[in-house]
Amino acid sequence: MAALDVAAFLDSPMHKAMFPKRLRIKPGIQDQLEWNILRMRRGLADANLHHLVVLADAPEEGEIIVGCAEWSAPAAGAGEYEEDEGKTAEEKAKDMELRLARLPPFLDKGALLDANDEVMELIEKSKEAFKGENRHNMWTLNSISVDGDYRGIGIGKMMTRWGMDRADEDKKGIWIISSSLGQQLYKSLGFKQVAEGSRLGEPQYLMLKFHEPKQEPAPEPDLVPELEPMVVPQPVPVLEPVPVPVPVSVPEAIPEPGLNGVSTTA
Ligand SMILES: CC(C)(COP(=O)(O)OP(=O)(O)OC[C@H]1O[C@@H](n2cnc3c(N)ncnc32)[C@H](O)[C@@H]1OP(=O)(O)O)[C@@H](O)C(=O)NCCC(=O)NCCS
Repeated sequence: MAALDVAAFLDSPMHKAMFPKRLRIKPGIQDQLEWNILRMRRGLADANLHHLVVLADAPEEGEIIVGCAEWSAPAAGAGEYEEDEGKTAEEKAKDMELRLARLPPFLDKGALLDANDEVMELIEKSKEAFKGENRHNMWTLNSISVDGDYRGIGIGKMMTRWGMDRADEDKKGIWIISSSLGQQLYKSLGFKQVAEGSRLGEPQYLMLKFHEPKQEPAPEPDLVPELEPMVVPQPVPVLEPVPVPVPVSVPEAIPEPGLNGVSTTA
């Protein structure tokens, strides 16, 4: 999962800024991989986060992960959640200082802070579109990636629909900070783009979907017209998304996944 996520974002300007060559400790993508493993391990232990993987049978490798996603459910008591939690500016600065100190040295802290500010700006821009709905009381997709060889065949849609169904059951809306690649995917599933911005030079969009109560099914007509038989399309050799089980143990003192709960991968 971690390797797939790193590969999906390798060319992103945002990730190049966050993991600059000058701070690299290990060769190649090792630092990023390590960071993603820590981030995901921590996420797997969080009951509010839901991880999906999509498996496919590769000709010579056997079963491989070709898609993964992390969905975040509304936190318990999220309805009462206050953005600043009643903290003074001094207390907030202290919190931030502590979080930054826990981050690994290969992560550019300045870039991370800028990215965080830009996300908060995008959220602020979309404030009206939320129509008073508390985003902490909604579902959100923290990250989604599909292996380059398996894109364009519906895997991204399948993992997005998984969360849409959960949000529907919960009667909650969904908000997503999207990259350009995700933009069409969410629009095609009925999301509205409510704000546009950028994160470390990369275009970002805030996509929103409120809960829509299901329509009552129309009454059956007396006479059902005979339908032509349909050609069933060839099934794609991909399995259903599989929720990832929670691991038994989690290492201590893992750094924060991002600031203000904003993922460093989506
Ligand atoms: C975004 C991403 C997850 C999409 O996954 P995917 O499995 O290729 O998406 P799907 O096949 O389900 O396609 C969903 C929609 O995206 C759009 N889409 C897919 N491939 C596309 C392409 N090559 N060009 C333009 N639009 C495309 C289409 O609108 C499609 O819907 P449609 O088939 O009804 O027209 C994938 O491109 C990816 O991993 N990108 C890198 C990581 C990333 O940017 N993640 C998004 C974070 S918000």
